[in-house]
Amino acid sequence: NPHCRILATGHAVPSRVLTNADLESMVDTNDTWIVERTGIRQRHIAEPGSALSDLAADAANQALAKAKVKAEDIDLIIVGTVTADMKFPSLACLVQEKIGANNAAAFDLSAACSGFLYGLHLADSLIQTSGYQHVLVIAAEMLSSMVNWQDRNTCVLFGDGAGAAVIGAAQDDKGILSTYMKSDGRHHGLLYNPGGSQLPLSHELVDSNEATIHMEGREVFRHAVVSMTDALHEALKRAQIAPEALDLLIPHQANIRIIEGIGKRFKIDSEKVYVNVDRFGNTSAASIPIALNEALENGRIQPGDVVGLVTFGAGLTWSSSIIRF
Ligand code: ACO
Repeated sequence: NPHCRILATGHAVPSRVLTNADLESMVDTNDTWIVERTGIRQRHIAEPGSALSDLAADAANQALAKAKVKAEDIDLIIVGTVTADMKFPSLACLVQEKIGANNAAAFDLSAACSGFLYGLHLADSLIQTSGYQHVLVIAAEMLSSMVNWQDRNTCVLFGDGAGAAVIGAAQDDKGILSTYMKSDGRHHGLLYNPGGSQLPLSHELVDSNEATIHMEGREVFRHAVVSMTDALHEALKRAQIAPEALDLLIPHQANIRIIEGIGKRFKIDSEKVYVNVDRFGNTSAASIPIALNEALENGRIQPGDVVGLVTFGAGLTWSSSIIRF
């Protein structure tokens, strides 16, 4: 029996749009290549100097308003991010102040693109074991701040954004039916940014483009398909749901070929697979809650629908959940 459900969601993206045509003037690339290889047509990019905590607070406030939950009734804030405003304190604490959730505990979670679903897993578990009533799970990312804008292999892929969900107790058989999370650190070298404590940020490092995203695209692609297959399989098994019983699948929005590959592996009709990578690019941890919020707002998810969420990211990390709405 599920004990928790998503009470409401919200999302926010920066207003500035960067199109493939814009990128053509920045690196040796073209719209045809980007659309064919990734499915991305545009992405939202934050203005330099803007704070990710503002975007995260915007998404959180929308979710709270829709859930009719007051900020002071939030017991815990979990933010999945790898691009917090500061090295410390956490983005979660900055958001806590901005939304006035003064009775909450708050912390960040580092799981790259799996940040939201890792957070959902924790929220679901903690509500059941710690007496928390309301947990705010946010995923917010400003990967534009760590993209090497001279590297065409990576700079075309990413966008900025934030998504949020208020999690609370479920009264009926609706809610979170299963969650699953997994990692394999042996492959950390496939996708990383070395600009941590080992490489303190200096002007030299920033100027030499070292403190940016490094990625083995083809290997990441291969692992993405294998890991997301494992994740979806495991979440379905735990929820005792067959793939054909899913009303909607929301895969992490990294690349249309990965998204379609997962749908095909589970023989899920393409109309049941949510796609917005064309408009947002890969927003890392924020990708699932942005898509989820859109699907709830545009009616792609109806009451009673069973929805699969599945993701994959640097770490490597992967995660999934099955939810009845
Ligand atoms: N424009 C034009 N040409 C390009 C571009 C570009 N933007 N980028 C690469 N190319 C070239 C390459 O240089 C290469 O040329 P070459 O054959 O002369 O060497 C050619 O295109 C093919 O490159 P590949 O890397 O083999 O292309 P591939 O089909 O693998 O697509 C891509 C690359 C899109 C990066 C793909 O590998 C991919 O999506 N991988 C997964 C990446 C991903 O999802 N990362 C994030 C997941 S985790 C997270 O979200 C943090």
